[in-house]
Order: sequence, then C-alpha cells, then structure tokens
Amino acid sequence: MEVYEALLKRRSVRKFTEEAVSEEDISKLLHAAMSGPSACNRTPWEFFVVTNEDTLEKLRKAARYSKIKAPLAIVVCGNLSKSLPMQLSSFWIQDCSAATENILLEATELGLGTVWCGVHPMKRAENNVSEALSLPEKLIPLNIIHIGHPAEFPDPRDQFNEKKVHYLK
Ligand SMILES: Cc1cc2nc3c(=O)[nH]c(=O)nc-3n(C[C@H](O)[C@H](O)[C@H](O)COP(=O)(O)O)c2cc1C
Repeated sequence: MEVYEALLKRRSVRKFTEEAVSEEDISKLLHAAMSGPSACNRTPWEFFVVTNEDTLEKLRKAARYSKIKAPLAIVVCGNLSKSLPMQLSSFWIQDCSAATENILLEATELGLGTVWCGVHPMKRAENNVSEALSLPEKLIPLNIIHIGHPAEFPDPRDQFNEKKVHYLK
C-alpha cells in the first residue's frame, strides 16, 4: 500500500471482531512506532501492549470516550526521564504523537482498525491508566490506541481545505 493511500484510508474504527491481532502484526506496529522522529532523537517513549481482558476493561473505563471493545490496546507513554530539559520537556508529546500516527498507519497497511483515545492532559484519565498499568511516576500515558480486526469500514477521506494553507511566495 502506498503511504498516501494509507493516509486517506486511515479512519477511526470503533467496532471490532473478536479475532486476536497476531504477534507478527503487533511486532510490525511497534517497529513502525519506534521508526518515528523525536526531538534530538531522545526517543522518550514506552509502549504497553495490552491483551489481558481485565486490564483492557480497566482501560475502557479509564477515560470518558475510551469505551471501545477491541482485543488489543497499545498505551503510548512519555518517559519524562528521557525528555529534554526545561522548556523543551514537553516535546515528548510531539515525539509520542508521531509514534502514535505511525502505529495507526502501519495498522491500516495491515488491514487492522484503530482508534486513538486521548489520555494526557486529562489528569483523572492519566491517573486511571497509570493505576491500571502500575506505571512509575516518570511515565505519562498520552493515549490508548484500541486495535483489532475491523467490524466497520469508514470510507477513506480527504479533508484538504485550501483555506488552511498559507502560501508565502
Ligand atoms: C488527540 C486525540 C484524541 C482522541 N480521543 C478520542 C477518544 O477519546 N475517543 C474516540 O473515540 N476518538 C478519539 N479520537 C479520534 C477522533 O475523534 C478522530 O480522529 C476524528 O474524529 C477524525 O476522524 P477519523 O480518525 O476517522 O479521521 C482522538 C483523536 C486524537 C488525535
């Protein structure tokens, strides 16, 4: 699949079959994630791969709009002990977002569905996810990506809007 085709085909999927995601596919998703750019190549990310049903249920309840039944979740976390100092520290959010988008695009190529459910900066959701995964304080959960074989197929979409482009010629 061409990258541009995957970009348009990637849509949020919120209904999944019960079929498990293979170990091979999970490995490809993680390789894609860690191929992303990061500021000063700090790679301040950690990935929690969750297939345990009890933990998945806790993640569904962790955030208000995360009640998605999928057989796999990857929780993308920022590692503050690896982030840049001082006012550059919040670059971890951009780094982890790039890794997240890579997971979504690789999943699209593999025929899997995904939905990115935001956690940080919602404090209560952060605490719930941290508790569900027993995270140390230095790890901040950015999002929960629910992943599985899709049971709904939103149409590919191009949201190009000329008004949002500003040319300086
Ligand atoms: C930072 C962020 C947080 C999001 N949080 C949620 C969420 O909590 N629950 C959910 O169902 N979708 C969530 N989404 C998915 C958006 O609703 C979705 O990307 C948007 O409506 C566009 O639809 P599309 O993904 O099909 O293109 C989130 C997306 C982003 C980027």
